[in-house]
Amino acid sequence: MNRQTRLKPAGARTVDEITGSRRLRRMRKADWSRRLVQENHLTVDDLIWPIFVIDGKNVREPIPAMPGVFRLSVDLAVKEAERAAKLGIPAIATFPNVDMSLRDQTGSHILDPQNIINRTTSAIKAAVPEIGVITDAALDPFTSHGHDGILRDGIIVNDETVEQVTAAAVLQAAAGADIIAPSDMMDGRIGAIRDALDANGFQDVAIMSYATKFASAFYGPYREAIGTQGLLKGDKKTYYLDHANSDEAIREAEQDLAEGADMLMVKPGLPYLDIIRRLKDEFQVPTFAYQVSGEYSMIKAASANGWIDGEKAMLESLLAFKRAGCDGILTYFAPEVAQMLKG
Ligand code: PBG
Repeated sequence: MNRQTRLKPAGARTVDEITGSRRLRRMRKADWSRRLVQENHLTVDDLIWPIFVIDGKNVREPIPAMPGVFRLSVDLAVKEAERAAKLGIPAIATFPNVDMSLRDQTGSHILDPQNIINRTTSAIKAAVPEIGVITDAALDPFTSHGHDGILRDGIIVNDETVEQVTAAAVLQAAAGADIIAPSDMMDGRIGAIRDALDANGFQDVAIMSYATKFASAFYGPYREAIGTQGLLKGDKKTYYLDHANSDEAIREAEQDLAEGADMLMVKPGLPYLDIIRRLKDEFQVPTFAYQVSGEYSMIKAASANGWIDGEKAMLESLLAFKRAGCDGILTYFAPEVAQMLKG
C-alpha cells in the first residue's frame, strides 16, 4: 500500500491565513532588529567573582577540576581584585583553602580574627576599597569533616553552629567585609547575624542569604578547590534543601527575608532557574544566582573537547540567569566575561 503524502491538500490555508499575518520572524530577520527587541542584557555590573585563597606568598595553584581557576595567596588575590575593579566587576566573594593542621571538629579557626578569610578581606579593602567584598561564614573550610556546621554524635547541631557562624560574621565585618553571605543553611542564622552585626556597630554590612541552597552534585570541583572532598563523610541533606522541592524554597526565602536578609541567592544556578523566577515573582528583592563550580567545569570541559563553543555557552548561560529574573550572578567566568564585554 503506497500512501501518497499530499504536500498541499486541496483547500489548505495559506500561512498568512493560519497566522493571521502575525509573523514573529519579522523581528528576527537581521542583527539590528534582533538587537532592538532584545529583552535582557548582561553587563559587567551583573558579576560577582568568587575566588579561592590559600596561605603563602606569590602562590598561584591551578585547580585541576576547574581549568582557568587558581588558589591564590593573599598578595595575588589583591592583584586580582585590582584587575577585577579595573574591569568594572562590582564585587568579589572569597573562599579559603585552610591548612589541614588548622581544621578541627568545630571549625574553631573561623574565630581567629587573623585567619585567611579575614586577612584577605583587610588586604583587599586596603588596596582596592572600591570593590565589594563578600565573605561566607559557613564552617566547611575549617572543619575536619567538611560539613558546614558543628558535628556532634553524627548530627550537625543547629543552634551551636549558629552561635559560631554569627561570631565569625562579626569578625568578618570587623575585617572589612561589605556583605556577609552565610552558606550553611542553619535555621535562624540570618536573624542571629543581623542582631550581632547591629549590636557591634555594623549596621551597614549587608546580608546576602544563600536562602535556597540545594543538596547538589554540582559542588564537586569546589570541594577539590577548598580541600573538603576527601574529608566529607555522608552528605549535606540534613541542612541543604532537597532538590525535588520548590515550595520549600519559597518558605526558606520568606523566612530569611523576615529575619533581615537584604538579598537572596539561589544555588546552584542553571538547574534552578525555575526557583529564581519564583522568588523574583514572589518577593521582588535583589536576587542572585551562584553558577557553581560544576556548572563552570562542565562548560570548560566540553569546550576543551571541542564539543561546544565555550564562549557562547558561557554567555548564553549567564544571560539565562538575567532572563530568569536575577539581578546578578556569582560566576567563575567573571573576569573572562568582563574582559569580553569590554572588548
Ligand atoms: C559550602 C559551600 C559550597 C559551595 C560554596 N560553599 C557547597 C559545598 O561544598 O557543599 C559551592 C560552590 C561551588 O560549587 O562553586 N558552604
